[in-house]
Amino acid sequence: MAADSSSRIDSTAKPLIRFEGVEKRYGTSVVLDDLNLDVHEGEKLSLIGPSGSGKTTILRILMTLEKIEGGHVWIYGAPLWHMPRNGQLVPADERHLGRMRASIGMVFQHFNLFPHMTAGQNVSRPQQIVKGLDKTTADRVARELLDRVGLAAKADSYPSMLSGGQKQRVAIARALAMEPRIMLFDEVTSALDPEVVDEVLQVLRNISLESRMTMLMVTHEMNFAREFSDRVLFLDGGRIVEQGPPDQLFHAPREPRTKSFLKKIAAAGQRVD
Ligand SMILES: Nc1ncnc2c1ncn2[C@@H]1O[C@H](COP(=O)(O)OP(=O)(O)OP(=O)(O)O)[C@@H](O)[C@H]1O
Ligand SMILES: [Mg+2]
Repeated sequence: MAADSSSRIDSTAKPLIRFEGVEKRYGTSVVLDDLNLDVHEGEKLSLIGPSGSGKTTILRILMTLEKIEGGHVWIYGAPLWHMPRNGQLVPADERHLGRMRASIGMVFQHFNLFPHMTAGQNVSRPQQIVKGLDKTTADRVARELLDRVGLAAKADSYPSMLSGGQKQRVAIARALAMEPRIMLFDEVTSALDPEVVDEVLQVLRNISLESRMTMLMVTHEMNFAREFSDRVLFLDGGRIVEQGPPDQLFHAPREPRTKSFLKKIAAAGQRVD
């Protein structure tokens, strides 16, 4: 999969996402330190690294849930956290952020479905509210997407009647319904019982094969990262320590910190094939 998809990616084209000297601090603690990262259209990127290394923070900045203290983030050449005014970049206002956010979708570890809506309504309603679609069209799209994640039969079930894996698949369908150009996934299987992890990973595999969407995935599932990604990023202490194609990063890591992280993962029982 990774070999096929990497041939699709034009790394000479303008990057879809660019982090340029990004700094993120909480008080005096530096969480991202001079982060530079380009992601190209259609690329599938996995972010791995120890707890606290800044993986979630990178996704939350893209989702405009966290501000940055230094540097710039560009989405297809447009500044995410700033807007141009009189030839200068000034901090973005809510309108600019809302416009930028519309091209980005995120699926979280805890699915945050609306408990009082059925699976179908969870996927259909946001399309009506955010995209202004009429109910008939939104319901049709919701049915198609639930079918795509293997849940056509559960459209009328409420979240409390669904398993964790099923809820997460509804959350994925809901994010897809917004047709984002960029999809962010933050450890979407780590709150799930082991027996349903595979059904969610299978859905993600299919989506990544079927779509040109740019996908950033934070994951502890190393085998999944290996087969899903065009590129894997290893983060530690708010910096990119090493990055490369999955086979290189997992089987021939260069940096001592990457090696010791992978050793710990292996000791915890995860073999990377
Ligand atoms: N709201 C906050 N206030 C203060 N510090 C925070 C806040 N959110 C995150 N941090 C700190 O920022 C650092 C990076 O956190 P982040 O959530 O990005 O890590 P992560 O790589 O996603 O870790 P994990 O694998 O545990 O999810 C951590 O040291 C964390 O304690
Ligand atoms: Mg995290």
